[in-house]
Amino acid sequence: MLRVDEILNLSREEMISSSKKFVASLCTQYKKNNYIDPSFYQKLDVKRGLRNPDGTGVMAGVTLIGDVQGYIIRDGEKVPKEGDLIYRGISIKDLINGFVSENRFGYEETVYLLLFGELPTASVLEDFKQLLCEWSALPPGFTEDMIIKAPSNNVMNKLARSILALYSYDDEPEPTNLETELFQALRMIARCPIIVAHAYAVKRHYFDNESLYLHRPRQDMSIAENFLYSIRRDNLFTEDEAKLLDLCLVLHAEHGGGNNSAFACRVLSSTGTDMYSALSAAVGSLKGPKHGGANQKVNDMISDIQSNVSNWKDEGEVKDYLVKIVRREAYDRAGLIYGMGHAVYTLSDPRAVILKEFSRKLAEEKGMVDELDLIETIEKLAPGVLMEEKRSDKPICANVDLYSGFVYKMLGIPEELFTPLFAMSRMAGWCAHRIEEFYNSENRIIRPAYKTVSELKPYVPLNDR
Ligand code: COA
Repeated sequence: MLRVDEILNLSREEMISSSKKFVASLCTQYKKNNYIDPSFYQKLDVKRGLRNPDGTGVMAGVTLIGDVQGYIIRDGEKVPKEGDLIYRGISIKDLINGFVSENRFGYEETVYLLLFGELPTASVLEDFKQLLCEWSALPPGFTEDMIIKAPSNNVMNKLARSILALYSYDDEPEPTNLETELFQALRMIARCPIIVAHAYAVKRHYFDNESLYLHRPRQDMSIAENFLYSIRRDNLFTEDEAKLLDLCLVLHAEHGGGNNSAFACRVLSSTGTDMYSALSAAVGSLKGPKHGGANQKVNDMISDIQSNVSNWKDEGEVKDYLVKIVRREAYDRAGLIYGMGHAVYTLSDPRAVILKEFSRKLAEEKGMVDELDLIETIEKLAPGVLMEEKRSDKPICANVDLYSGFVYKMLGIPEELFTPLFAMSRMAGWCAHRIEEFYNSENRIIRPAYKTVSELKPYVPLNDR
């Protein structure tokens, strides 16, 4: 280690390099004292990842908001079934059929349903949409002070920081009563798309050397329309594009209380902390590649398959490549076929089924049918490959991410916005869970246990070490 007078004479680069060397030596020290023998988990009956031995989640609470159904338990056994996603008692398929058959946008209606527990009447829906439009404006100077001044290369990072920053623009930021909570939630849902659009514009400007353009949200547009309007330089989009994006927003709005980001939001809310803290934590959780970040991975994997399989229509060739992926001989060597498998869904993920059904029309318009056919081939072949390679009889289905990235790509939405789009849609579900945790006074602070497996040792005085 260097002496203090030596450190003071170093340049900034030398100082960083010297600090890194010191930290590298601490890594060895860390590894020596931080290995946990995996056998402890079994010996101590630890529910790793809060999962039961059959993969089902440990029951951590009750909710009225959303339900994810992928199996039934019969005589203590998990029996696979076609998946369903239920928002406030209504199946996602029925909800979507409802507004699609009337050729309407559905996300605003879904937000109302998730928060207030029932479908709005036509006049309430009109007032609600108007309110969301009015509240989408950011506080004066917010974009300049909070988004432009400290740009981030990552839109999710900027979103989390912007949510926390909004605390200081609120006259009553601490949780007081239900009215304040609902007011904060609705304003957050309305503002999130414009924060994402501005954070992306600023990222492109400062990190990709592109021109900076910031569009103000329009008062006469749905959230999906406003988002496409905001991110496109020329503001132009078609009705079909906006309706498909709206569908994606509805499909990603909620996924039960046990998914990692909703649970993170509930963990923080259970302490009585403010809405801004709880929602920024949820964004941090969703950013992870095992959660919301998976949609980018799917896109990347499909490009890899396209470059390495010469004939996408040859099922034998596609299958051989999928086998290589699972054997860690191809793509990112992680052994995963991204977009396949789910912790709850077994025979089907209803979101993937719906997105696939709606993708074809736009794929034909955009000349991207070959890519959609390839994705469908992967969906068809991957379960067999996984069963053979893993010697497992567990059913595996396509998950929402197999199709969502493709849909965003068709909409010309850049990959770095895939996860932020997920976040702006899921804001509705997070707010609903946050308020449910806040409003139900029966809820206790969430506090599971960790068994300490280190041994007691005496404190050794500094000079004796
Ligand atoms: N590719 C390769 N192997 C997979 C797989 C996939 N897509 N999905 C599941 N498996 C494997 C698991 O690795 C595990 O194998 P192991 O026992 O050798 O460790 C086994 O199948 C059992 O998995 P299962 O219990 O069904 O799933 P899970 O709850 O542990 O994991 C996911 C669920 C989503 C994390 C997992 O399916 C996955 O990693 N999928 C790919 C990533 C993805 O698409 N994520 C988006 C989810 S919406």
